Amino acid sequence: MILIFMLAFDPMIQQILSYPSTPTIAAADTIAASVPQLRYIGTGLTETDLYSAYYLGIWSKSFNITPSCPSGNCTWQNYRSVGLCSQCSDITSTATLDCPKPTHQGYATQWGPYLDGNCKVILPQGQSSNTNLTFGYPRGQKPEGTPDVITIDANTVWEVASYAAYEDFFFSNQTLPNKVYSNVENPLMTLAQASLGFDNGVIAHPSNLWEGVVIKNVTQCSLSYCVQNYNVSVTEGKSIIEKTSTDFGKTFVPPKSPYADSTCWRPNESPNDTVMPAPETVPMTNNESMIMPSRNATEFAFCYNQEIMPELLVGSVNTSYIKKKQDSKWGSDNAYSGTENLGRIFDLGLHVIMPRIAESLTLANLQGPNSTNLPGTIYTNEVIVKVQWAWMILPTLLVIMGNLFIVCTMYASRKTILWKSSILALLFHGLDDEAAAKRDQCTASSRMEKLAEDMHVQLQSSESDEHVALCER
Ligand SMILES: *[C@@H]1O[C@H](CO)[C@@H](O)[C@H](O)[C@H]1NC(C)=O
Ligand SMILES: *[C@@H]1O[C@H](CO)[C@@H](O)[C@H](O)[C@H]1NC(C)=O
Ligand SMILES: *[C@@H]1O[C@H](CO)[C@@H](O)[C@H](O)[C@H]1NC(C)=O
Ligand SMILES: *[C@@H]1O[C@H](CO)[C@@H](O)[C@H](O)[C@H]1NC(C)=O
Ligand SMILES: *[C@@H]1O[C@H](CO)[C@@H](O)[C@H](O)[C@H]1NC(C)=O
Ligand SMILES: *[C@@H]1O[C@H](CO)[C@@H](O)[C@H](O)[C@H]1NC(C)=O
Ligand SMILES: *[C@@H]1O[C@H](CO)[C@@H](O)[C@H](O)[C@H]1NC(C)=O
Ligand SMILES: *[C@@H]1O[C@H](CO)[C@@H](O)[C@H](O)[C@H]1NC(C)=O
Ligand SMILES: *[C@@H]1O[C@H](CO)[C@@H](O)[C@H](O)[C@H]1NC(C)=O
Ligand SMILES: *[C@@H]1O[C@H](CO)[C@@H](O)[C@H](O)[C@H]1NC(C)=O
Repeated sequence: MILIFMLAFDPMIQQILSYPSTPTIAAADTIAASVPQLRYIGTGLTETDLYSAYYLGIWSKSFNITPSCPSGNCTWQNYRSVGLCSQCSDITSTATLDCPKPTHQGYATQWGPYLDGNCKVILPQGQSSNTNLTFGYPRGQKPEGTPDVITIDANTVWEVASYAAYEDFFFSNQTLPNKVYSNVENPLMTLAQASLGFDNGVIAHPSNLWEGVVIKNVTQCSLSYCVQNYNVSVTEGKSIIEKTSTDFGKTFVPPKSPYADSTCWRPNESPNDTVMPAPETVPMTNNESMIMPSRNATEFAFCYNQEIMPELLVGSVNTSYIKKKQDSKWGSDNAYSGTENLGRIFDLGLHVIMPRIAESLTLANLQGPNSTNLPGTIYTNEVIVKVQWAWMILPTLLVIMGNLFIVCTMYASRKTILWKSSILALLFHGLDDEAAAKRDQCTASSRMEKLAEDMHVQLQSSESDEHVALCER
């Protein structure tokens, strides 16, 4: 019965052991996982790096860091990193238009487009736009059939708060302007985009076509330093990067010289009395020395002299409105697309481009020399031997039952003479002649056993014969 069970179990023996692989934390000294982290924005980027970051911001759309994870499965604790962030606001309702009445001076005798003046888009604070308008009506002798034309800079991006003016303010007043643009105080750069249109319906006096110029939309975006929370993990080789809780921080002037001539930035989370260490002085080759901006990396605070490039983003494109002789209304004609960069900005809108530039600048800094590597936890797959204990019950029982069976058999058969051919017959055959005499009396094995009980034999040379035999002692 037991044997039959054994046979039945045999093909299933494979079920007991399996070899699954489980993720295990790899020893840190063999392989390394890392993500770049910025504890301050340094001077490590060249002008070329900045140019390419701006262009990437305009033309690209993905600016994610690439964590290094050799096993394809890594995690990092949530961490903070400094970067640049942008915040935009729709200020259409607060913007006003200031179009001075045309002076009608300097009319040329030839018909053609003339720069007749500019319409300013005036914002609650900061620079207003300088939007050009040209007016092709009515002037001089116009060729027959040529329509009247009005050309407006329909889309303009301009610098609302310039960094240069901000620095001038700081150097002359030793304090910061502390103006807030798009909810950011003392931003590095503030740009606005205005789109203007031309509306026949609002022209009250046909002689004053300027009345038809209307504001369609004004968006303002600020660029500033910020600290963001990163939640990074890599699963099956795929990086998951989440950025949360943007802290726009505060621009401040550290108390006391020698740092008084620099502006510094710290996150809101850092104490308002964050200590900025004395700046290092780095000797240069030409017997001069350079003062490195001070930083306090533990508090994510740093002093800066940021190079910004608003000139890559500002400009305008014009749209023409025409009226042929037979028309009663002005119709839209053609829109110039401007430079490629401007075309892209107006296509997507400043509120899309500015956050991309901020992300691109952050990535450039993360890839630059002033970032640090943050180690993570690596998971590698290790094969383990897994025993299915439930499947072990049957073979274990079989072994126990088999052993019990043997013990029981031994106990039950302790009195019985084992059913087995006796070796006495073989031994008796080898007795020497003397003992063999007794042997011959035996007719049954029971008699032979009895005889053997009283007989003590030893292997020695026989006296009678010349060979070795069992002799009785
Ligand atoms: C940033 O990196 C540059 C280039 O390696 C280095 O010269 C500079 O000391 C670093 N730190 C700061 C604060 O700029
Ligand atoms: C307005 O036109 C003048 C002359 O063409 C040009 O120099 C200036 O840059 C234009 N302004 C804007 C805001 O485009
Ligand atoms: C210094 O501050 C005053 C008052 O706020 C301001 O009018 C002036 O323009 C500032 N100086 C500069 C160079 O901006
Ligand atoms: C202005 O443009 C922004 C971005 O395209 C848009 O979200 C907003 O609704 C527009 N505002 C108006 C008044 O059209
Ligand atoms: C971080 O990301 C992981 C996976 O996306 C998520 O499970 C976890 O809750 C996140 N942690 C925090 C603090 O947001
Ligand atoms: C990666 O590691 C996590 C963490 O223990 C684990 O849950 C997951 O199954 C692993 N993924 C792979 C593909 O190894
Ligand atoms: C710093 O913050 C504390 C508490 O938030 C406040 O009492 C103190 O006036 C602040 N100091 C300065 C210099 O702003
Ligand atoms: C950074 O700021 C903290 C808080 O003010 C201060 O305790 C620490 O000493 C500063 N670190 C350096 C290097 O100055
Ligand atoms: C170099 O620096 C030393 C010490 O500051 C000064 O005496 C010397 O005139 C400098 N030489 C030049 C060429 O500027
Ligand atoms: C409109 O823009 C184009 C391209 O920038 C320029 O060449 C043209 O002179 C502008 N037209 C007027 C009337 O300003």
